[in-house]
Amino acid sequence: MSFERVAELSDLWIGELKSVRAEGRSVLLVRFETGIVANEDRCPHQAYPLSRGELDGRTLRCAAHGWEFDLATGRGVNPASCRLVSFPVRIAGESIWVDVGGAT
Ligand code: FES
Repeated sequence: MSFERVAELSDLWIGELKSVRAEGRSVLLVRFETGIVANEDRCPHQAYPLSRGELDGRTLRCAAHGWEFDLATGRGVNPASCRLVSFPVRIAGESIWVDVGGAT
């Protein structure tokens, strides 16, 4: 496991979709009241950047063809058979760290 600092808490508003890079991969950060989630910024359908999607609560809708994902679990909502690549997140002080090697 190797965490990399990708952003500061002050860079990320609640409900904002932010794309960052870690170890050469695009990572989508989303901050909720309860914490921050990190998923690959790549739709499992046709690889469109999820950071261009629309967030409704914890559900993210891909801007390309409308697939939907539950960011709390990384699971597909529609279709339910898909899944996002999720990364572990750590907060240390004011910094956000992501481990892309720990993808699930
Ligand atoms: Fe995301 Fe098609 S690329 S729904």
